[in-house]
Amino acid sequence: MASTVVQSWNDFDPLTHVIVGRADHTCIPPSEPATEAKVPEDSDMRGLWGPRPLETVEKANQQLDGLTRILEGRGIRVDRPSPIQWNQAVQTPDFTTGAMFGCMPPRDVLLTVGSEILSAPMSFRCRYWEYLAYHPLMQRYFDDDPNFRWEQAPRPRLTDASYKQNYFDEITLDERLKRTAELNFVTTEHEPLFDSADVLRLGKDLFCQHGLTTNRRGMEWLQRHFPRHRVHSVNFPGDPYPIHIDASFVPLRPGLIINNPNRRLPDAQRKIFSVNDWEIFDAAQPAHNEPPPLCYSSVWLSMNCLILDHKTVCVEASEVYQMEQMDKLGMEVIPVPFRDAYPFGGGLHCATGDVHRDGVCDDFFPNQVQGTQIR
Ligand code: ALA
Repeated sequence: MASTVVQSWNDFDPLTHVIVGRADHTCIPPSEPATEAKVPEDSDMRGLWGPRPLETVEKANQQLDGLTRILEGRGIRVDRPSPIQWNQAVQTPDFTTGAMFGCMPPRDVLLTVGSEILSAPMSFRCRYWEYLAYHPLMQRYFDDDPNFRWEQAPRPRLTDASYKQNYFDEITLDERLKRTAELNFVTTEHEPLFDSADVLRLGKDLFCQHGLTTNRRGMEWLQRHFPRHRVHSVNFPGDPYPIHIDASFVPLRPGLIINNPNRRLPDAQRKIFSVNDWEIFDAAQPAHNEPPPLCYSSVWLSMNCLILDHKTVCVEASEVYQMEQMDKLGMEVIPVPFRDAYPFGGGLHCATGDVHRDGVCDDFFPNQVQGTQIR
C-alpha cells in the first residue's frame, strides 16, 4: 500500500485517498436546541429518537460498501471509521443528552485543509463525541505521515448560552425563511461553532456558510487558525434549514460552480466569483419530490456529488437530471446508488472525507472584492 500523505486543498483535484462513513449503530438523537431547529415541523422524525431500524442500517451499509468498491475499483484508497455504540447517553459538566448520532457523514466533522485534518466544534450536543470514530484513522495517519497535522478546534461547551431560547416556538416556514435572510440562527455567538461541511475549500479561500451550524465566531476562529487563508462568509437565503454548504453551492472544477436555484448566492457575494472569471450555473432539478423516510436532508442531495477529478463525478444513480447536467458540462458521470444512505447523514459528498487529492494550494481568487471576507 502506498504510504499515507494527508493533503487536500479543494473538492475537485484528483482524489487518491478518502474516508467513507459507516451506518452502524446510527441513532435519531433526542430533541435538543440545535436539532430542533434543523428538523422540519412536519418531519416523520419528530418525536422519535433512539437506534434506527436495523434493516435500514443494513441497506445504508450496503450502499456505503458499494461506494467504497467503486472508488477502490478506480485505484482510490478508502479508509473506514470505527463506529462506537452511538446509543449511549452523553453527560458533560455542561449538558446531558440521551443518545448520540453516528459516523456516516465524515464530511460534517472532519475538515481537511492541506496537510491538516481538523475536528470541528459542532453545535449538536449529540455529535460531541463523533470524532472518536475517526480517532484510530487519525492515529494511523499521524504515525504514517510525518507532516500530518492532527488538530482539534476548541471543544465547545454547548451550555444553554450557545442557543437562542424559544427560537422555534410557533415557527412557520415563512418565518424560517425570513430568519435565514436576516442571518438570525438558533446558535448564539457565545463560543466558536462550525461544522466542517459548512466550509467550502477552494485553495487559498475558505467559503463558510453562515447558518444553523456555523456562527461568526467559528469563522473568526478559522481565520486565526489558517492565517494564510482568506475566510469568507456566505449565506443562502431561500434555505429554511441552512446547514452544510454542499447541497447549495458545489464547485465542479476550477472556474465552475453549480448553485441550488432555490438558494441563490446573493449578488454582493457573487462578485468575487465573477471578477475572477468563475461561472455559477443553476443546478439541475432533483429527480425526487421528497427525501426518503426519516431523513434530515432535503431533495437537493441531488447535487451533493463526489468529484474524483476535473472530469469525473459520482452522482446518485436515480438523479437523472443532475447526471444529465453533469454530462452536458463535460463530466464523465459515475452513477452510484445511495438513497438508502441519505437518512444517515446525507449524500455522496457528506459520506466522504478527503485524505489526499493531488494538487497544490491554488489562488483562484487573486482579485478580492468587498462583500464576503470576514476581515
Ligand atoms: N442541508 C442540506 C440539504 O438538506 C444537506 O439540502
